[in-house]
Amino acid sequence: MFSLLLLLLTIPLFFHFASALINVTIDDTDPAIVYQGSWEASSTHLSSLDYGGSHTVSGDSTASATLTFTGVAIYYLCPRWPYAVNTEVTLDGGQSVIVNLTDPIASTTAAGGSESAQFSVVWSATGLTNTTHKLVLTMAPTGEFIVADGFMCVVSPLPSNSGSSFS
Ligand SMILES: *[C@@H]1O[C@H](CO)[C@@H](O)[C@H](O)[C@H]1NC(C)=O
Ligand SMILES: *[C@@H]1O[C@H](CO)[C@@H](O)[C@H](O)[C@H]1NC(C)=O
Ligand SMILES: *[C@@H]1O[C@H](CO)[C@@H](O)[C@H](O)[C@H]1NC(C)=O
Repeated sequence: MFSLLLLLLTIPLFFHFASALINVTIDDTDPAIVYQGSWEASSTHLSSLDYGGSHTVSGDSTASATLTFTGVAIYYLCPRWPYAVNTEVTLDGGQSVIVNLTDPIASTTAAGGSESAQFSVVWSATGLTNTTHKLVLTMAPTGEFIVADGFMCVVSPLPSNSGSSFS
C-alpha cells in the first residue's frame, strides 16, 4: 500500500522533470516560417554545412521571414560565409539586431559562392515568457542578403504549477 502510494506520487514528478524543457528544431522549409517577398528556394542552396542540408536566401531588401513559436527560448542556426553576409533579426517587434554571418576563419573571398563554416548558434534569446513569439528576419540596412537555415525553440510543455519542485 505504502509503495503503491509512493509510486503514484513519484510518476508525475518524474514526468514533469523529464519533459520540463524540450528543444525543438525547425528547418528553413518548415511551414511555421512564413516567407514574404522574393526568396531563392532551399533546393537551390544545398550544403552539408547547413542545418538539414540546405538554406533559404533572399536578396530582396523588402522580403521577410517570420517564425511564430510558443516557447521560452529561441536559437537561430546558420552557417557562415567567407565574405560579408548578415541578417537582421527582430523578436516581438523589439530592437533589431544585425547578426554577422561572415566566417572569421576562412580567407576572405569576393562576394558570392558557398558557405565555409558549419551551422552553429549565431543568435539567441533566452528567458522568454512561455507565450507566442514572432521572430522576423529582414535585410540589414548595410546588408545584401537574408538567410534562413534553422531555429531551435525551447518549449515548456507542462504547466509550471503541476506540483513538482524540479523546474
Ligand atoms: C537547447 O539547445 C541549446 C543550444 O545548444 C542549449 O544551450 C540548451 O541547454 C538546450 N536546452 C534543452 C532543454 O535541451
Ligand atoms: C563580421 O565578422 C567578420 C569576421 O569576424 C569581421 O571581419 C567583420 O568586420 C564583421 N563585420 C562587422 C560589420 O562587424
Ligand atoms: C507553455 O505554454 C503552452 C502553450 O500555451 C502550454 O501548453 C504549456 O503548459 C505552458 N508551459 C508551462 C510550463 O506553463
